[in-house]
Amino acid sequence: MAVKFYKPENQVPLEMHKVRVVQKLSLLPVEERLRKAQEAGNNTFLLHNKDIFMDMLTDSGVNAMSDLQTAAMMQADDAYAGSESFFRFKEAVKDVFGCEYVLPAHQGRACENILAETYVKPGMVTLMNFHFTTTKAHITRVGGSVIELVKPEGVKPQSTLPFKGDFDLKRLKKTIEEYGPEKVAFVRIEAGTNLIGGQPLSLENMLAVADVCHHYGVKSVLDASLLQDNIYFMKTREAQCKYMTTKEIYHLLADKMDIIYFSARKLGFARGGAIICHNKQFFEDMVQFVPLYEGFLTYGGIDVRSIEAMTQGLYESLDMEYLCQGPEFIEYLVKECADYGVPMITPAGGLGAHIDAQAFVPNMPHDQYPAGAVAVALYIAGGIRGMERGTLSEQREPDGTERFAEMELLRLGCPRRVFTLSQIKYCADRVKWVWDNKELIGGLKWTMEPPVLRFFYGTLKEIGHWQEDLVAKFKEDFGDSL
Ligand SMILES: Cc1ncc(COP(=O)(O)O)c(C=O)c1O
Repeated sequence: MAVKFYKPENQVPLEMHKVRVVQKLSLLPVEERLRKAQEAGNNTFLLHNKDIFMDMLTDSGVNAMSDLQTAAMMQADDAYAGSESFFRFKEAVKDVFGCEYVLPAHQGRACENILAETYVKPGMVTLMNFHFTTTKAHITRVGGSVIELVKPEGVKPQSTLPFKGDFDLKRLKKTIEEYGPEKVAFVRIEAGTNLIGGQPLSLENMLAVADVCHHYGVKSVLDASLLQDNIYFMKTREAQCKYMTTKEIYHLLADKMDIIYFSARKLGFARGGAIICHNKQFFEDMVQFVPLYEGFLTYGGIDVRSIEAMTQGLYESLDMEYLCQGPEFIEYLVKECADYGVPMITPAGGLGAHIDAQAFVPNMPHDQYPAGAVAVALYIAGGIRGMERGTLSEQREPDGTERFAEMELLRLGCPRRVFTLSQIKYCADRVKWVWDNKELIGGLKWTMEPPVLRFFYGTLKEIGHWQEDLVAKFKEDFGDSL
C-alpha cells in the first residue's frame, strides 16, 4: 500500500495512475443476458465482448497500456529481419532479467510448444508446482506427462499460507529419484500459480527448487508469465525481499534458472512472449523452432508494435506502483466477497479473485461443472464474465473418463490498470446476490465437447430450467434495473 489514508475506515487501494482513454461499456437487460448466455452455449469464452459489462475472463492481453507504451508503438521498426524494435526488446530483457539470449514467440503457449518439442520425448515426465492448461496440452501432445508437486496446502481453498504455490521440496527430490533425472524433461516453476488461484511462490522456495535441479542435473524452467504479481507478493510477504529492488529479484531468479519463458500478454501489460536464457546451448537447442513455428528470429510472430509495447512494459514490470494495482484490487474484491460469506480462495492471489465454486454449490457433482454453472449465473446476474477453472477446464483421461479438478474455481480476472473501484464494488455486490440465490443454480451438460482444450469452444446447456428461474428472481429483486 503506497498511500495511507487519514481515516483508517476510508482506506481503499489507490490507483497510482489516471485514466486518459476510455471505452464505453454496455449492460444489457437481464432477459438479454440470459439469451446471450444460452446462444454462447453457456461457455463464457463464446460470449461477444459487446454483450459484456465487466470482462473478467482473464488478465491476458487485456491489461491497460500506459502512455509510454502507446508512444513506443509509434517508433516500431517494420522489418522482416533485423528490426530495431527487436534489438530494443533484447536490451530490455538484458536489463530486467540480465539474460543474453532471447527467442521471441507470439505468446506464452508458443514458448511452451517450443519447449515441449525440444525437450519432452515420449515417456518423459515434467515436474511442476501445478499444471497450466496449455502447458499440459503441449507436453502430453508430444508423449510426455505432468506431475504436480505443489504443497498440499496449495489446493486447500482457505489458508493463511502466504505462498500457496510453493513446491513440496521433499516430494520434488523423491520424484526425481524415483523416475531418474534422465527421465525428467524439466522442472517447471510456475510463478503466480494460475490454476490454484494465482498463488505465489516464495523466493526462497523458487531458489531451492533451482538448487535441487542443479544437484540432479535436471533443467529448471521458470514460467514467468505471472512473475510481476509474484514479485509484489515476495516484496510484501517475504522478509528477505522487503529491501531488495524488484530488479534484484528478477536478476537473482534469472541467474538461478536455466530457462525462463513468459507470456507478455500478462508480464509487461502487452502482447507477445519470449524464451530467454543465459546459456548459449539452450538457445541453440530451441532456436530452430522459432522460424519454423513463429516467424523470423527478430519478430517471432509478434507484430513489431507489440514488441515495442512489450519492451516498455518490461520496464514497467519493475515498478511497484504499477505492480501493486492488480493484487491490491484483487485483495479488496476477495475481502468484500468473503465478508459477505462467499467462499473465496484465500489468501488473495494475483491475476484475479477466485470463487470456490465447489463450496458455493456443494451438492452439484463435478461432471455438472459447478464452476461453469456459477460463471453463467454471474453473467446473467450482472453482465460479468468470469472463467471456469475447474473440471470443465481439465482434459479427459486417455480412457475417456472425466478427470475431476482438485479445485472448482470461478476466476474473476482483474486485468491490470483497467477497472475502477466502483466497478469492483458492483462485481462484489452481484456476487453477493448470486450467493444469496445459489439454491436456484443447476448444472450444465455438453451439447458439443471438443477433444482438446474443450473449455475454449465447447458448448453446453442448462440441466432443467434454472436459468429462467434465476432471471425471474432477478426481476423480483431488482425491478427495472439493468
Ligand atoms: C502461467 C501461464 N503460463 C502460460 C500461459 C499461456 O500464455 P498465452 O495465453 O500467452 O499463450 C498462461 C496464460 O494464461 C499462464 O497464465
